[in-house]
Amino acid sequence: MAEMNTIKIFDTTLRDGEQSPGNSMNIDEKLRVAKQLQKLNVDVIEAGFPIASEGDFEAVKRVAQSIKGPEIAGLCRANDKDIDRAWEALKYAGEKGRIHTFIATSDIHMKYKLKMEPAKVLEAAVKAVKRAKSYTPNVEFSCEDAVRTDLKFLAEVVAAVIDAGATTVNIPDTVGYTIPFEYFNIIRHLKENVSNIEQAVISVHCHNDLGLAVANSIAAVQAGAGQVECTINGIGERAGNCSLEEFVMAMRTRRDILPFRTNVATEQIVPSSRLLSTITGIGVQPNKAVVGANAFAHESGIHQHGVLMEKSTYEIMTPESVGLKANVLVLGKHSGRHAFKKRLTELGYELSEDDLNRAFDRFKALADLKKEVYDEDIDAIVAEEVMRPAEKYRLSHITVTCGSFAVATSTVQLEIDGEPVRTAELGDGPVDATLKAIKKLTKTKAKLQQYNVGSITGGTDAQGEVTVRVSDGDETVIGRGSSTDIIEASAKAYINALNRLHFKKERIHECL
Ligand code: KIV
Ligand code: ZN
Repeated sequence: MAEMNTIKIFDTTLRDGEQSPGNSMNIDEKLRVAKQLQKLNVDVIEAGFPIASEGDFEAVKRVAQSIKGPEIAGLCRANDKDIDRAWEALKYAGEKGRIHTFIATSDIHMKYKLKMEPAKVLEAAVKAVKRAKSYTPNVEFSCEDAVRTDLKFLAEVVAAVIDAGATTVNIPDTVGYTIPFEYFNIIRHLKENVSNIEQAVISVHCHNDLGLAVANSIAAVQAGAGQVECTINGIGERAGNCSLEEFVMAMRTRRDILPFRTNVATEQIVPSSRLLSTITGIGVQPNKAVVGANAFAHESGIHQHGVLMEKSTYEIMTPESVGLKANVLVLGKHSGRHAFKKRLTELGYELSEDDLNRAFDRFKALADLKKEVYDEDIDAIVAEEVMRPAEKYRLSHITVTCGSFAVATSTVQLEIDGEPVRTAELGDGPVDATLKAIKKLTKTKAKLQQYNVGSITGGTDAQGEVTVRVSDGDETVIGRGSSTDIIEASAKAYINALNRLHFKKERIHECL
């Protein structure tokens, strides 16, 4: 077998991933994800875009202060103000701090977005790298929209920024436009035509607009790229970024023809995926490669039979290798705190004593209602009891009357900033009446865009899980709630979304 090259994994879940609708996280949530990325053993964590807002700055700073192991990157445009601000947040990571500066190099971006001539763009790129270099030796430069950039000009920019001191040069497919063959050729061209290319690591950053982000990243490493930028669950702008778990498992599974390895602790993949979904409230589709609920489920009789005889008949990687533990019955009402804590740890959750106590109380209450408590129930408990945003609104009680002869009526009592308030509303069904009552009490102008109800596990005693998408102006959030009563789950999800909106707006307000 050929010698294995180690490909650096640059995780941008907290920057490009967080930029996408519904995935925004507060500082504590970002820190939780960063801690999990540390366990996952990624090489670089891009923690945010420090000049974008006070919240982003603070998050990058806190990640730089508290994460040990991975390098910490912060994004900035190619200007002094952005770069200085980025370093102010990153300096706490010391020599592990990486300034990631970028400017667009494609004709279309230079002409319409930047309104700059190519020579000026080249000058700005070099100046930015030199300024970043005055703070740290660890500088990454990105040619935004590289794939649609004139190849000669791209090579010129790459050579110039390496001369100026860039140690990593990123060639992004910003709009998810390329295909593997073309991307391979672009990277190969740079390898063969940029005289100083060996002085820097070539990085690739693929968006998934054509569903090719992972395939393109693989083609790029085959052509000589040494770093892949990706996100957990493939979250990111529009159709998302290259999915970390898919790229890493492709490297691991096809070692026979891909002579590359990564430093990723693959058994932390599922816990990382779950944690991110729990925090953002956005689950992955069931058929998502590697981390979807069906990724290791063999439905057809022929497949089941084959797997029972010999796993490798239909399984190209083991569930254990990505950290998927058998989803057997885990706990019941007689399970103690110790067993509960142990399962939380196995699922990748590390809770403070206070959080553990709250989660355990909720578990006990659930176990009284429901014979069997599964991993998915535990995810929901953690989402609600631990990951929930600070609460302006809290549900106290709810009483609903409905039926085929009755007009549905819901009486809702909330606490708003600790003060009890109560009202009743009629509606077109109990959910409608309940959400109307909450709307009236909170005086929200937010619009409910989507309402989905599902069950967390099987059985008639299963918890219902409701996910809502709510927007107010430019802000969109996802809210999630669970309960064995779906009306209560609906109320919780809606209130969760209103709390997220409230604190998001407050954060933005603070930054103005
Ligand atoms: O997609 C992109 O081009 C980016 C850069 C800022 C790296 O996210
Ligand atoms: Zn991007």
